Amino acid sequence: MRLCMIGTGYVGLVSGVCFSDLGNNVICVDKNINKINNLQKGIIPIYEPGLEELVEKNIKNQRLSFSTDLKSSIKKSDIIFICVGTPTKKGSSNADLKFIFDVAKDLAKNINKFKIIVTKSTVPLTTGDDIEKILLKKNSKNKFAVVSNPEFLREGDAIRDFIYPDRIVVGANDTKSNRILKNLYSPLIAKGAKYLSTSRRAAELIKYASNAFLATKITFINEIANLCEKTKINIEDIAIGMGLDERIGSRFLRAGPAYGGSCFPKDTKAITSTADKFKTNLTVIKSVIKSNENRSQLLLKRVYKIFNNKIKNKKISFLGVTFKANTDDMRDSSSLTMIPKLSKMGAYIRYFDPTGYKKEFKEYKNVSYSKSISRCLYKTDLIIIHTEWNDFKSLDFTKLIKNKKTIIFDMRNLYSPQKMLKKNIRYLSVGRG
Ligand code: UDX
Repeated sequence: MRLCMIGTGYVGLVSGVCFSDLGNNVICVDKNINKINNLQKGIIPIYEPGLEELVEKNIKNQRLSFSTDLKSSIKKSDIIFICVGTPTKKGSSNADLKFIFDVAKDLAKNINKFKIIVTKSTVPLTTGDDIEKILLKKNSKNKFAVVSNPEFLREGDAIRDFIYPDRIVVGANDTKSNRILKNLYSPLIAKGAKYLSTSRRAAELIKYASNAFLATKITFINEIANLCEKTKINIEDIAIGMGLDERIGSRFLRAGPAYGGSCFPKDTKAITSTADKFKTNLTVIKSVIKSNENRSQLLLKRVYKIFNNKIKNKKISFLGVTFKANTDDMRDSSSLTMIPKLSKMGAYIRYFDPTGYKKEFKEYKNVSYSKSISRCLYKTDLIIIHTEWNDFKSLDFTKLIKNKKTIIFDMRNLYSPQKMLKKNIRYLSVGRG
C-alpha cells in the first residue's frame, strides 16, 4: 500500500520505516528540511537501536522516501498517518494539539481521492471527531475516514515493539477503513499479533489508559519501595512475589528514580485534564502524577542525608542521565531535577552517558560531561547510578573507586547490597532495607 507518515519523530520515523520493511511504499514527510535532507542520506536524528540499518535497506529497495512536500505526498498516498507531537501545553495539563490541527487543515485541502487519515500520535479522547469536522469543511464525508491507531512503542525497543506488538488497536467508525487497516497489518497478525477493532474513541482512550496504568504500576512499586526502606525488606522480593500473580504480571515493577520520558508524564496529565472536561475526577492518576513529581525530591533527601546536608564542594558523579537506557531522550528525566538542585547547592557534578554530552546542563557551571566512566568517577565522593545502561552493570568498583569513603547510590538496583558489603563499598539502593 502507499502510505504517508506526517512527522518523522520517534513515532513517525520508526512506524514509517517498519511499514516500508513490510513491503509498503512509504513517504515520510517533515517540515524540517535539514532533518529530511539528513534522512535521505541515511542520517538518523534519533537514537533507536537498529533503525539506521532499516532506513538504509528500505531506501535502497526504493520503498522508503523522505520529503518536505506535504501536498504531493498526500495526493500520492492512500493511508495518511498523523505522527506529529502532542506536547503538554506550558503551564497546563492539556495536550497541545496545534500541530495535529495544522496537519488536518493541510489534509482538508489535498484530498484528491478516498483517503484513510490515521492518528498514530497519542491524541486526547475525541480528537478524531475534531479532525473529522475540519476535513468536512472542504470534503464530503465519503471522501475520507478518520481512524485511531495508537502506537505502543517503547523508546529503545521501538522496532521490536512494532514488529512483535502485544496488540494492534484500530479504532474505525466504518467497516471499509477497518478492513484496509487490518490488511495493512496482516503480516504482523500472521505472526501472532492480536488485532483489536474498536470505536475510534475507544482506541484513543485505550492508549491513554494503558500508559496511565503503567505509570500507576511504577509509582505503586516506588511507594512500596519507600516502605521497604523503613522496614528492612528487599523490594525485589515484593516485586517478584507480586509479579507471580498473573493478574498483576512481573513487568514494570522495577523501583527506580521516578518515571520520565516523552509519554508517561504527558499522557497522565492529558487523561486527567480530558476527564475533568467531561466532569470525571481521575483521583488515582492525579495522585500518581503528584507522587512521581515528588519522587526526585525524595531521593535527593537521601543524598542530603549522606552528606549531613553539607553538599557544598562535594564531588558527585552521575552514571547515566537519560530517562531510561537505550535512548538519548532527556525529556522529563529525573536527572533534570536532581542535577540542577545539587548544582545550586554547590556540589561539583560530573556525568557520563553512553549517548554523550547533554545541552540541558550547559547553563550549570559546576556540571561537566566526562568522556569516560573512569574520568567521571575519578576521586568522587558519591556515585549516583541514574540510568540502567548495560555499560554500568558489571563495573569493577574496587578498581574504579580510589577513595575508600566514596559511596554508591544505585537508583536502579543494578548491584547486590550483600556483594558490595563484602567488598567494603558503602552502597545504597532503592527499596532494599
Ligand atoms: C512508554 C510506554 O511503555 C509505551 O508503550 C508508549 O508507547 C510510550 O511510553 P517509554 O516512555 O519509551 O514507553 O519507556 P518505558 O520503557 O515505558 O519507561 C517509561 C519510564 O518508566 C522510564 O523512566 C523508565 O525508567 C520507567 N520505568 C519503567 C520504571 O521506573 N520501572 C519499570 O519497571 C519500567
